[in-house]
Amino acid sequence: MTRRIEDHYRTLLRDHGDSAEAAQYSSRESQYRRFAALAPIADLSGRQILDFGCGTASLHDYLVGIGQPPAHYTGVDVVTEFFDIARQKVPGGVFCHPDALGDAEFDYAFVSGVFNNRRKGNRAFWQETVQSLFARCRGGVAFNMMSTYVDFQDPGLFYEQPERAFGFVKRAVTPYVVLRHDYLPKPGSVAFEFAIYAYRNPPELTA
Ligand SMILES: C[S@@+](CC[C@H](N)C(=O)[O-])C[C@H]1O[C@@H](n2cnc3c(N)ncnc32)[C@H](O)[C@@H]1O
Repeated sequence: MTRRIEDHYRTLLRDHGDSAEAAQYSSRESQYRRFAALAPIADLSGRQILDFGCGTASLHDYLVGIGQPPAHYTGVDVVTEFFDIARQKVPGGVFCHPDALGDAEFDYAFVSGVFNNRRKGNRAFWQETVQSLFARCRGGVAFNMMSTYVDFQDPGLFYEQPERAFGFVKRAVTPYVVLRHDYLPKPGSVAFEFAIYAYRNPPELTA
């Protein structure tokens, strides 16, 4: 099952090169809208960040574009063929297979689009991934998933109940959780995706 997903992304990379399509998005705008929903977890300038399922490191491009270049960027992906392009774009970055992360720690970890492909044990996969990423992060983890609040479900994709995702993170990861289901991943679409921020400490409020 996992091999099928890896082969799927290898084929997308071979056919589309450094593009949003190689990450299974319909457009760069749609890919960046996902990043725009995740990045507000914190001001990321000068932070050490982990991009889990990084593809060609487009998140780094996005953060530079909004004026929040991280001090250090680590990208992990099961499809290591993505790294040839990613290294050219982020020469100071570290790129490795997830199994090679060792005990590295970060300020924030990001997971965009990785939980969407249907695989055996989807729910265990996202829950275990979020827990293990959170354990490495001083600040927190931001991730997205497809929502069950849709009128059509693609049989090849995994849809999660936002309430269930919130409940798991709240009970099993951290008390400080944001669930946002307020954005359109594509202009003119329905809100078919949600994002969660899991914080180690409560974020400061401006009174
Ligand atoms: C939808 S793409 C998103 C890529 C990137 N996050 C972005 O938004 O441009 C999903 C990525 O997750 C990677 N991936 C899939 N399963 C993975 C796993 N178990 N561990 C790490 N990466 C994985 C794929 O190879 C692919 O690059």
